[in-house]
Amino acid sequence: MLKTKILLIAVTFLLSGNIFKAQSTVWLDQLDLSVVTQGHGKPGINTSVDGKPITIAGEVFKRGFGTHAESSLLIKLNGKAKSFSAMVGMDDEIKGQNPAAEFEIYGDNKKLWSSGVMKLGDKAKPVSVSLEGVKQLELVVTDGGNGPYYDHADWADAKFETAVGAKLTTFNPISSVPYILTPKPAATPKINSAGVYGVRPGSPFLFRVAATGDRPMTFTAKNLPKGLTIDSETGIITGKIDSKGSYEVTLNAKNTKGSASKKLKIECGDRIALTPTMGWNSWNCFGHEVSADKVKRAADALIKSGLINHGWNYINIDDSWQYNRDGKDPSFQGKMRDENGYILTNSKFPDMKGLADYIHNNGLKMGIYSSPGPWTCGGCAGSYGYEKQDAESYTKWGVDYLKYDWCSYGGVIDGLPDNDPDKVPSLAFQGGGDLDKGVKPFKLMGSLLKQQPRDIVYNLCQYGMGDVWKWGDEVNAQSWRTTNDITDTWSSVKNIALAQDKAAPFAKPGNRNDPDMLVVGVVGWGNPHQSRLKPDEQYLHMSLWSIFSAPLLIGCDLEKLDDFTLNLLTNDEVITVNQDALGKQGVCLQTIGELRIYVKELEDGNKAVAFANFGREKVKLPYKDFKKIGISGVQTVRDLWRQKDITEINTDKKGLPLDIPAHGVAYYKFISLK
Ligand code: GLA
Repeated sequence: MLKTKILLIAVTFLLSGNIFKAQSTVWLDQLDLSVVTQGHGKPGINTSVDGKPITIAGEVFKRGFGTHAESSLLIKLNGKAKSFSAMVGMDDEIKGQNPAAEFEIYGDNKKLWSSGVMKLGDKAKPVSVSLEGVKQLELVVTDGGNGPYYDHADWADAKFETAVGAKLTTFNPISSVPYILTPKPAATPKINSAGVYGVRPGSPFLFRVAATGDRPMTFTAKNLPKGLTIDSETGIITGKIDSKGSYEVTLNAKNTKGSASKKLKIECGDRIALTPTMGWNSWNCFGHEVSADKVKRAADALIKSGLINHGWNYINIDDSWQYNRDGKDPSFQGKMRDENGYILTNSKFPDMKGLADYIHNNGLKMGIYSSPGPWTCGGCAGSYGYEKQDAESYTKWGVDYLKYDWCSYGGVIDGLPDNDPDKVPSLAFQGGGDLDKGVKPFKLMGSLLKQQPRDIVYNLCQYGMGDVWKWGDEVNAQSWRTTNDITDTWSSVKNIALAQDKAAPFAKPGNRNDPDMLVVGVVGWGNPHQSRLKPDEQYLHMSLWSIFSAPLLIGCDLEKLDDFTLNLLTNDEVITVNQDALGKQGVCLQTIGELRIYVKELEDGNKAVAFANFGREKVKLPYKDFKKIGISGVQTVRDLWRQKDITEINTDKKGLPLDIPAHGVAYYKFISLK
């Protein structure tokens, strides 16, 4: 009898739900935290974002959620939760930095609580909010107003008191399902190269006609200036032009299905990189794991994937081709320079000239990286004191592009301490905004590059300090980073995108604001993973970089391109807007809630418009404010991603229906029918 009673009690207990459902305390760390949107790293379940014990101002917590600003976690409560409580603060693990963040709690989109700005060392702040009747909760960590750098933030001891049996679920409102919008290129030839190309007199000329269509293809070029020839099989134009001038060339590509022509204006003069640089850079995928072999394979993959037929043509080596001050890897350790001060490449790059030749023979160009300080950001040999030798080495090897960083220059801005580079830290950022001292090292390298007997495109990478867009042209640079390093998160892409407009008036042919590389495909700085940007976020990212006339540098592993990423990178209409010869940078002319409308004037008199939805609700409205964005009269509206005319409207009279997914974009060209 007793046995039956015990069994009955056990069965009743089991039927009433599992232990998790029966309890009235639900810990935040028991929910699926993988859906969070955060600025860096992985969500820490009972750990900090770096996987260490959660520690706020010396106090250690066993449970909680460690994240990184900017962070947003959404939880469906369905009115079943009574309250939420936690201890919040910045994690001690980022000692030595200056993080600040603000914790915020929203119930059904209404702010319920905010911590105020919290700094490193602030004692954990308790929070307890009532959730009676609330259906949806959002836990937010903002960047505290000083950028999202080193903002390791903890929701310690975070828990809900709930009705018995309540089921709380986390979710992310942005769709993860990839979808392809762009049709495959046709079998008939189509020339996709930009319409203008700049070269200096006497510099080696290298231009590969980018064309889609079935192979074999035969290439010709009419009215090529004296000194240039085209290889009819590959479409590679080489040689050199001796005198300044503007030359109108007609390119032609022919295969068994048909032929296509396009005009190319060759401007032989002082200015180069007249359209934004397009290519690949090793940093965002390989980080310090880069090698000559990987670079060569990237060049092969650029060709094999067909990217080359859409105009992608630079193969840029980032940090770590040099020897390192403290590399654990033996291939990084060695004598950094020869007795004459010429830099030596590390053993992963045994033959830089051979590598450049390989790249050039395929009609591609090669880029390299250095820093004006004694060290690069990664602790490799920088150019300080050896600028002349470095510029000469680049020429000797056949380098076509230099990305010149800032790291460690802060430590020598007033001279080399004790004449000892070892006393200079690799990361010393001070002084970059100083219009005298901060500009000096870039001017020096800029003039050395200009003296070389080859064109070396010069990219400054000092993150926008001292409003670099105002003086970059004067130091002979063609492009300059405007912002800090990008990473593959929504908050990174969003914040960088929102910071571009101020520099826009300075963009022109041969001068570009650089919002950093494209974070699509398999990225990871040596730890490969698929970009954490959702498909719609990637369409928005690519559309904005296109309308910004930004240099387009792919940061992913080209040997691992999936169909979605390849499709994203091979839409010739999106690329054509980026490469437009007028060279203007699109800017935001109107904001409707979180919808931002970017407009770019094009050489043909028409306009590209990106309706970018930064909100997490879809935007559905009839758009009527054409006057505000400088559009009037009858227009054909062409959907650039779908490569299709979608409607013809009289913009003075009718609205255009918009239906844009959260974090997504509609990217159109308005073609005037006047
Ligand atoms: C800086 C740059 C990055 C990359 C690294 C290399 O952080 O901004 O793009 O070049 O240095 O160490």
